[in-house]
Amino acid sequence: SLRIFPCISERCDALNKMRFLGSLKGARVLVTGASTGIGEQMAYRYARFGAQIVITARREHILHRVAEKCVSLGAQKVLYIAADLGSLLPSFVFAGGLDYLVLNHIGASPFATWDGDVEHTRWLMQVNFLSYLQMTSRALPSLEESRGSIVVVSSLLGKMSSPFVGPYAATKFALSGFFGSLRHEMTMRGSNVTITMCFLGLIDTQSAMEKVKGYTNTKAHPASEAALHIIKAGATRQWDTFYPWHLYYMILTGNLRYTKHTKPPTPVTQ
Ligand SMILES: NC(=O)c1ccc[n+]([C@@H]2O[C@H](COP(=O)([O-])OP(=O)(O)OC[C@H]3O[C@@H](n4cnc5c(N)ncnc54)[C@H](OP(=O)(O)O)[C@@H]3O)[C@@H](O)[C@H]2O)c1
Repeated sequence: SLRIFPCISERCDALNKMRFLGSLKGARVLVTGASTGIGEQMAYRYARFGAQIVITARREHILHRVAEKCVSLGAQKVLYIAADLGSLLPSFVFAGGLDYLVLNHIGASPFATWDGDVEHTRWLMQVNFLSYLQMTSRALPSLEESRGSIVVVSSLLGKMSSPFVGPYAATKFALSGFFGSLRHEMTMRGSNVTITMCFLGLIDTQSAMEKVKGYTNTKAHPASEAALHIIKAGATRQWDTFYPWHLYYMILTGNLRYTKHTKPPTPVTQ
């Protein structure tokens, strides 16, 4: 099937995508981690499509700024909710219904050799993994009603092992395991909700660039393009998507090599 060749499949689907993207006008979307980086860019992209958007992150003043820009770009409606997803989930109510739940936020983690800190990993599991499940559990009834979609933003590091990212990679692998299983269960019970897993390579967000500075010469791809790619994949109800597309082949061939001479970074906790 064309699923084996995502780059060809994506080109063949271009017309299909345009049709689906039109359907984003008025769509009810919740994007987490939307104060900066890819989440912020997704908020702007959805705004340009005329969606109704709810954005979340911890920093209220930044969310306020992003929300204002979304309105100026054409969003039908914008709400923001400041919440720390490292603690108990606030009582979000999807009163007006929901078409897309876009799970994107991550907590800070160092780019460093693992120092044995289990508590940090436990906290990161809450932010990067368990809160995704909590949000999904709350949103599913609304998504079932709207025949909506869950879009999960993951990473190449949720598919392949690499040094210096143990806790982060663990949370991303956990997402694949959980949402892969949930997708099977939903298919088995005839649910119309789609789960789209997005596997991204290095993206030029400020947090990622600061982390890997001096340690890799891998090309970083633009956050606004990554955002559009994720939105298209969600709107066209794809199961798995890779950005940039060649990640798919990298994963197939396991082509991510480090040698014992790779210099470990100096631990910096953000
Ligand atoms: N950038 C890359 O190279 C790359 C590569 C592969 C995959 N990805 C994936 O893409 C997604 C976005 O990455 P990014 O680089 O755009 O990240 P980012 O710029 O660091 O943004 C993270 C977002 O999460 C929010 N956040 C952090 N801690 C939170 C908490 N405890 N509760 C609620 N929200 C919290 C942040 O806002 P506040 O600080 O205001 O809370 C921010 O909006 C992630 O899932 C990441 O794993 C990124």
